[in-house]
Amino acid sequence: MKTLNTIDEKVTSGAHKSYWTDSVPPLIYDTIANDRQTDVLIIGGGIAGITTAYCLSKSGRKVILIEDGYLGSGETGRTTAQITYALDDRYYDLEKFFGHEKTRLVAQSHKQALEWINQTIAEGNIPCNFKRIDGYLFLDPTDKPANLGKEFVATQNVGLPTEQLTGIPGLPPNDTECIRFPQQGQFHVLKYLKGLADAVVAMGGEIYTNSRAEDITKDGATANGFTIEANHIVVATNTPVNDILTMHTKQFAYRSYVIGAKIPKGQVPYAMWWDTGNQDSKWVAKPYHYVRLEPLDDQYDLLISGGEDHKTGQADEEHVTEEQRYENLIVWTKNKFPYFNDIEYKWSGQVMEPVDCLAFIGKNPGDDNIYIITGDSGNGMTHGTIGGILLNDLILGNKNPWEEIYSPSRITFRTSDDFISEAGNMAYKMVKDWVSGGDVDNAEDLKAGEGAVIVSGLKKVAAYRDDEGVLHTCSAVCPHLGGVLQWNPDEKSFDCPLHGSRFTTDGVVVNGPAITNLKKVEL
Ligand SMILES: Cc1cc2nc3c(=O)[nH]c(=O)nc-3n(C[C@H](O)[C@H](O)[C@H](O)COP(=O)(O)OP(=O)(O)OC[C@H]3O[C@@H](n4cnc5c(N)ncnc54)[C@H](O)[C@@H]3O)c2cc1C
Ligand code: FES
Repeated sequence: MKTLNTIDEKVTSGAHKSYWTDSVPPLIYDTIANDRQTDVLIIGGGIAGITTAYCLSKSGRKVILIEDGYLGSGETGRTTAQITYALDDRYYDLEKFFGHEKTRLVAQSHKQALEWINQTIAEGNIPCNFKRIDGYLFLDPTDKPANLGKEFVATQNVGLPTEQLTGIPGLPPNDTECIRFPQQGQFHVLKYLKGLADAVVAMGGEIYTNSRAEDITKDGATANGFTIEANHIVVATNTPVNDILTMHTKQFAYRSYVIGAKIPKGQVPYAMWWDTGNQDSKWVAKPYHYVRLEPLDDQYDLLISGGEDHKTGQADEEHVTEEQRYENLIVWTKNKFPYFNDIEYKWSGQVMEPVDCLAFIGKNPGDDNIYIITGDSGNGMTHGTIGGILLNDLILGNKNPWEEIYSPSRITFRTSDDFISEAGNMAYKMVKDWVSGGDVDNAEDLKAGEGAVIVSGLKKVAAYRDDEGVLHTCSAVCPHLGGVLQWNPDEKSFDCPLHGSRFTTDGVVVNGPAITNLKKVEL
């Protein structure tokens, strides 16, 4: 493994560094340099891809993993790394959509993923600050009090060892009730990824970074001009980059915001907290808050708090800017944990929300040997792990009870109203953005470090002026399906409001489903 900057360390999916990427050296390997053949080709070096590589290597399969940045440079490096079977969506909703037995399997799969992580860390002695801690789910003020009771009953129905508590450990006494999820987990996600990746290499697997997959077919893929032939292909790129349409009508991209603040050790117990989400929100995935601690040193912990989500490329639809969302998050967090002053970290990341609450893991619809892992919602630590375990079984030809519930070809059960609302939002954005004017009239109006979409004749142009004053201009039309990109001043990227593709200020794609860069244009 190379440890020096043989690739651009800034290759992540945004301008901010998360605590995770800031606190360890980037996980950089050789770049692919010749044609290769393998049994399984895995595309994507986040938790889903690495876990799959680990499981298959352990099963004796020859794997090659390729990643276009460094390991963890996607959303895994932007997570808050809570490992939990308390899901983003409510168990009572899952029971409604899928019935009791399938919901029981969902609960069991997340619980097993948590235990699998625990066991793998113990077996491999992976130094990644892993801790078992309790989690507490409490009501958002917009939610009905009865819903907490309903969720408690639903978790009990599916056999989870939850408990209803009066008061919430670690929070001020004005929050009165919660559900306790005992013995959940947390870790330093990039240290964990390194542990798994080291094991993959030790078992004979190959890992290449700075190697972008293109032309993904049933025979393999190309990367940086070289061909990799494979019997099985796993696309673990967070949102699939092998499919133009099918999966992108079943899930929707959201941005989520995180702050990290130092607090003196002992002020707050190690635990995690979630509220049930803003029920008044216009978004189908109701934004909620999530909090936990990471040990920093002998004196301090880092309080990590996230939330204030919105659909990608649509921060302004609620007239709340990205910057204001961090402010709102700080106010909310301070209200619950008043023990911090300075904010050490701010970052945001992308979350794929499946319309029916469950991830998509299995054969890509219509393909026999191409597999995908996507639709994690905010439960990617467990979903990525379930992905590795399940795809290992599918590739080995073993039966797995989770195959049907996570099948990417499943019929979606969520109410058609929700589906129509998301699809309608896309259509509305498409039309509105095409007919509306630019963000600024003239590129001369852009100061150093600023970007905007500018109308130039019939063209929409993504323009950015760098710190040296040089203007960079690309087409603002998304190469996926033609959405008009929006400037994201927080992460300094151009984001597509339709299916969440994102591009650097120079037009390089950092989030799919687009797989090509933006076209360079002149103003
Ligand atoms: C702010 C935030 C907080 C979160 N908090 C939690 C939490 O507390 N608990 C939890 O369980 N989940 C959480 N999640 C969700 C979780 O972090 C993600 O679902 C998970 O990390 C996704 O992992 P992945 O491997 O699927 O994707 P990624 O980590 O994005 O990995 C995909 C990789 O594929 C690479 N790639 C893309 N295209 C190509 C290509 N063409 N060729 C080669 N490589 C390519 C990318 O560079 C990337 O590294 C959070 C997410 C966010 C954004
Ligand atoms: S991501 Fe689909 S049109 Fe941009």
